[in-house]
Amino acid sequence: MTETIQIHKPQPLDDHAVADLFTSARTVSYFSGEPVSDEQLTAIWDLAKWTPTAANTQPLRVLFVNTPEGKERLLRHINDSNKAKVESAGATAVLAIDPEYYEFIPTTFPHAAGLRDTFAANPDVAEASAKISAGLQGGGFIYAVRAVGLAAGPMTGFDAAGVDAEFFGESGWKSFLVVNIGQPGENAHLGRLPRVPEEKATRFV
Ligand SMILES: Cc1cc2nc3c(=O)[nH]c(=O)nc-3n(C[C@H](O)[C@H](O)[C@H](O)COP(=O)(O)O)c2cc1C
Repeated sequence: MTETIQIHKPQPLDDHAVADLFTSARTVSYFSGEPVSDEQLTAIWDLAKWTPTAANTQPLRVLFVNTPEGKERLLRHINDSNKAKVESAGATAVLAIDPEYYEFIPTTFPHAAGLRDTFAANPDVAEASAKISAGLQGGGFIYAVRAVGLAAGPMTGFDAAGVDAEFFGESGWKSFLVVNIGQPGENAHLGRLPRVPEEKATRFV
């Protein structure tokens, strides 16, 4: 039997959704401390997982830190300038790459399952592809946080090797981004900083 594939027709989002995702949404540094539930974190992943990746490889892995013990362990590896930001967040996610992400290819890209062997035999190619796709998934993750009505504070100011030794000794995952999650607190952020002018950032041909 032939599978019937529904074609989704995109529609423009309303002004409220555009503001919540893009134009009014801000990177939050300081949060209210209001708790974020595990259910909210699961809802974030349920949206973020749809981010497109090369050959549907999905190299991103996420550690949700949502207990006082977990936060205390994470804080040991956060740069001093970022510690108070993590402390204020309702929850924090550590975004990482699974170096052996290609093992899922026979399931997630079955019509080209041999790609698994190509990546396994070419670690540099596998790593380069993972960096692009996991980076995109990180962007999708931030927009997923916003879509469930929370604010995100992405940060690279942490000791990735320390985090990996702390949490990923067995899995071998490699952390690349910490994302604080919650409701904005007092002095949540400074004023909006300028963007690169459109005429410098884009070209048409
Ligand atoms: C990859 C990445 C790394 C970042 N690292 C830090 C960080 O270590 N500490 C921090 O306070 N903000 C960090 N930021 C926040 C950025 O400064 C912020 O997203 C940017 O200025 C845009 O702010 P806006 O979204 O409010 O316009 C980081 C953001 C990204 C995407």
